[in-house]
Amino acid sequence: MFLQILVLLAASGSAVLGDEEVLKNLTTVTWAHAVNNKTYLQAALASDVQMLEADIVLGQLIGKEGPLIPVMAHPPATTSDLSLGDFLSIVAQHNKGIAKEKQKGVKLDFKSIEAFEKAQDLIARFSKPEVTFPLWLNADILPGPVAATTKPLDPEKFIKLASQHPRAVLSVGWTTRYGGNITEGEYTRQQIGTMLRMVNALKVNQTITFPVRAGLASNSQPVILDLLRETRALGSSVTVWSAEGDAVAVERLRALILTVGLEHTYLDVPAELAARLQLPAPPATRTHN
Ligand SMILES: *[C@@H]1O[C@H](CO)[C@@H](O)[C@H](O)[C@H]1NC(C)=O
Ligand SMILES: *[C@@H]1O[C@H](CO)[C@@H](O)[C@H](O)[C@H]1NC(C)=O
Ligand SMILES: *[C@@H]1O[C@H](CO)[C@@H](O)[C@H](O)[C@H]1NC(C)=O
Ligand SMILES: *[C@@H]1O[C@H](CO)[C@@H](O)[C@H](O)[C@H]1NC(C)=O
Repeated sequence: MFLQILVLLAASGSAVLGDEEVLKNLTTVTWAHAVNNKTYLQAALASDVQMLEADIVLGQLIGKEGPLIPVMAHPPATTSDLSLGDFLSIVAQHNKGIAKEKQKGVKLDFKSIEAFEKAQDLIARFSKPEVTFPLWLNADILPGPVAATTKPLDPEKFIKLASQHPRAVLSVGWTTRYGGNITEGEYTRQQIGTMLRMVNALKVNQTITFPVRAGLASNSQPVILDLLRETRALGSSVTVWSAEGDAVAVERLRALILTVGLEHTYLDVPAELAARLQLPAPPATRTHN
């Protein structure tokens, strides 16, 4: 326990993603969202933010004809001024020669399996061991709460293709229908169990994180703990996210995060919710006098 506190203390505020050897406070990692155009990418690279989350669809560059390619856009948009190829090259260029812990990481949120299939060669260039910036491959691959109707990506195809990039973090979750007048729900034992069976059946062998929606996850502590325990060998974590305006039981969410542990919880929620969580600070350093 004492050692754990010491390590957390030493690492707080300077989390390095992807290294499993020490315990860290993963909730310190900061996020930019929908980094889907050139202007915003430049702004995000110039900021202090650590992880750039961006969406990928199969589409076209604005004003260009020709075959469909992976571009940075959120459905229903199918055009962008930024292709996935350019996005990755610009990030890699930015990271060149920068200390590993200061490099920007990317979380690529694939909105269709076709976009992921067509992205394989592009990703391969940056999933080589000599490239060191954090690279997350994310998709909703299973139907989730509350009776979500969004179609998930083919789970088998997604996991198998992602396994070709062992350096990348596999980030796989459930579609959700929550917010607005839907204020109650939970991840069911069945939904969690299906994910676990997928991970086992497809012999996942890379770092894995499960994105879970805060308002739903806070009602699902027992099954989330099961999921993490069963995948511990993969250095598993949850990435707790929330949409603006989601109903969230703050005390229950706090209890979930502290039970899972700060070293297994990425936190990607609006700043106002993060502040209300009042996560425990590292123990104060002793002053000698
Ligand atoms: C670029 O992306 C940001 C963040 O998603 C968005 O707020 C902004 O409107 C976008 N700009 C253009 C020109 O699409
Ligand atoms: C929830 O809101 C939608 C529109 O936003 C409406 O169509 C639906 O009837 C509402 N459902 C309930 C149970 O109030
Ligand atoms: C898992 O991956 C590691 C390297 O990333 C490798 O050394 C190990 O043999 C793999 N295990 C299995 C069961 O494939
Ligand atoms: C963990 O990180 C959060 C967010 O930055 C911070 O509020 C909290 O004090 C940290 N706690 C520990 C134990 O490092």
